[in-house]
Amino acid sequence: MAVTHCLCERTSFEDILKWARERGIDSQDAVQSGLGCGKHCGICVPFIEYALATGTTRVPWPCPDLPEAP
Ligand code: FES
Repeated sequence: MAVTHCLCERTSFEDILKWARERGIDSQDAVQSGLGCGKHCGICVPFIEYALATGTTRVPWPCPDLPEAP
């Protein structure tokens, strides 16, 4: 299984990374401010951080590099 989208904004990690790269952005805070991804339910935040750090658009789940879900 893999996580590939911010469901609340209906935005794929592929589109998020493309948007971020075009602007030289590498932080979740900037993605949240610019696209809204992460500012609703927030569950996608660690996945977007992982995508930004690694360049992957399909974050595996379960992923040993991410914190456990609350
Ligand atoms: S899934 Fe991204 S804010 Fe809810």
